Amino acid sequence: MKHSIIAIALAATMASTFAHAADDTEKRIAESRATIKAFGMKLKGELQAAMKAGGPANAIKVCNEVAPAIASDISMEKGWRVARTSLKTRNSSNKPDAWETKVMESFERRKAAGEPANKLEFSEIVEADGNKSFRYMKAIPTGEVCLKCHGAKIDPKIEAKLDSLYPDDQARGFKKGDIRGAFTVSQPM
Ligand code: HEC
Repeated sequence: MKHSIIAIALAATMASTFAHAADDTEKRIAESRATIKAFGMKLKGELQAAMKAGGPANAIKVCNEVAPAIASDISMEKGWRVARTSLKTRNSSNKPDAWETKVMESFERRKAAGEPANKLEFSEIVEADGNKSFRYMKAIPTGEVCLKCHGAKIDPKIEAKLDSLYPDDQARGFKKGDIRGAFTVSQPM
């Protein structure tokens, strides 16, 4: 009798612990999604405004200076790391770590298997050097406007500017619909 009461109490505690963990994960996913959505919209707005004002050559500075600045503002505000990365980076300081590489490779496989690129996301609790973090990634599809600077045929004037800024540029030759890269979030736990 006593045992079964303990067993029931234990089971109830465990169930509520699992429920809590699931709630916590759902909350972290929702917060990551919202943060990235805000980041993406801000970036798109700045990019479109700069393109309109002075064409792609003018807009390069949005990607070059504004994107990292927005990412670092959000990171400071949240106490997380928020950034953009890719399997083919333009700026080598955006290069992925091993976990990010693995996730983006799985995005490529999932896309090849028919999942829409704009729906690809993944999250996991990762432990490294004794530190636990909640990590989240969302794929960034290549749109028409991206091709001006990431496509196969880039205006020579823009190409020259990209060459001088990014001697190690791998982010050309993309087609519309390709996965250009991903947003990445890391929340310390
Ligand atoms: C005006 C030129 C231009 C356009 C248009 C443009 N980009 Fe970029 N993109 C850049 C530059 C420059 C960088 C390097 C930014 C840096 O130094 O961090 C970059 C970097 C990136 C990165 C970070 C990873 C990396 O390669 O270093 C992603 C992801 C990205 N762009 C996606 C896009 C997407 C998606 C679009 C379309 C919505 C787009 N870009 C449109 C110029 C452009």
